[in-house]
Amino acid sequence: MPIDTSEPSMADRVRSVVDRHRGDRGALLPILHSLQAEFGYVDQAMIPVLAAELNLSRAEVHGVVTFYHDFRAEPAGRTVLKLCRAEACQSVGAEDLVAHAETRLGSKIGSTTADGQVTLEQVFCLGNCALGPAGQVNGRLYGRLDAARLDGILDAEAERA
Ligand code: FES
Repeated sequence: MPIDTSEPSMADRVRSVVDRHRGDRGALLPILHSLQAEFGYVDQAMIPVLAAELNLSRAEVHGVVTFYHDFRAEPAGRTVLKLCRAEACQSVGAEDLVAHAETRLGSKIGSTTADGQVTLEQVFCLGNCALGPAGQVNGRLYGRLDAARLDGILDAEAERA
């Protein structure tokens, strides 16, 4: 099959994101957020491109990518479920909810189900502490989650697939 040269390469797309932030102070973090928004994750292959464009070492870029838990190293599933594990949510059952989600999905926090459909992630406070346990599904915030409610939300997401 001939290579489609009309599609910009990943490196070109990364450079175009960098160009949008050129001149910004501390541009690396907003660039990484933009890359994750555009690609769904921050690929290892982006690191040397970013280092060259921003005049940083690869180790510096890699250090930032791995320090912040916001950045995924692999593409996310169609559904991204984030469960809050901060103190207020923990005090009302967040850990039981995480355990339930892991059992239901058959995958651990920080990973994607074998069928590639659901990514389960932890967060530390969604600003919804009074309504814990809190979670987010594809950016939509939920409060007072329990196992049955979470199952209902995931069933509804699966039906939409
Ligand atoms: S502690 Fe869970 S939303 Fe704040």
